Amino acid sequence: MKVIEAKNYADLSRKAANIISAQVILKPDAVLGLATGSTPVGTYKQLIEWYNKGDIDFSLTKTINLDEYVGLTPDNEQSYRYFMNHNLFDHINIDKKNTNVPNGTAPDMEAECLRYDALIKSLGGIDLQLLGIGHNGHIGFNEPGQAFEKTTHIVTLGESTIEANARFFGSKDEVPKQAITMGIKSIMQAKKLLLIANGRDKEDIVNKALYGAVTPAIPASILQIHPDLTVIYCYE
Ligand code: F6R
Repeated sequence: MKVIEAKNYADLSRKAANIISAQVILKPDAVLGLATGSTPVGTYKQLIEWYNKGDIDFSLTKTINLDEYVGLTPDNEQSYRYFMNHNLFDHINIDKKNTNVPNGTAPDMEAECLRYDALIKSLGGIDLQLLGIGHNGHIGFNEPGQAFEKTTHIVTLGESTIEANARFFGSKDEVPKQAITMGIKSIMQAKKLLLIANGRDKEDIVNKALYGAVTPAIPASILQIHPDLTVIYCYE
């Protein structure tokens, strides 16, 4: 595990973008696992800037996102597909056909989970998975208490996650109650993991996850045993 302290959010974003950019330069057809939320926004902005300068080419790159809300269509501004298009894909030369986000409105959500697992396999696995961390230690939408062995599955969101995400919605009641998420097993199978955490409010959970007991009560704690984990944090 490599743990890097960033000077500030801009520095964290540059460092994370550097690692992603190095991955794409070394393997242009890399499979990038991507995350949504506030933390990676600066990383995506930085990647767009370097793309505009001609430093990165995403034409062969494939992406696979961690999660999506159940019930939100891709054109819903709160959906994670919308977030990814808006914050990254619309601004770089990636082929949208090579970008993957779980379908939150699939008629059969169990079948969608199986499709997503098969997709990860057919892409040859994930080369580099970007992760944020929730205040309760969730990664993707793997909430505390869930089995580490899970692949893509449907989750009922915990109260603290609904509260944390209410800031993006009109009110807490509008936050969907369920999501589809890659499981911990799928995440742990990625060749490299990059966890980013920003803000004083993440310090406690990051310390518990990285240096405490490995327990399903703190889903991110399993990351300690991944052979290639990089953590970049800034608690300013
Ligand atoms: C998003 C995701 C979540 C977030 C986490 C942190 O795709 O998988 O696990 O990474 O909730 O979110 P922020 O970055 O908003 O603090």
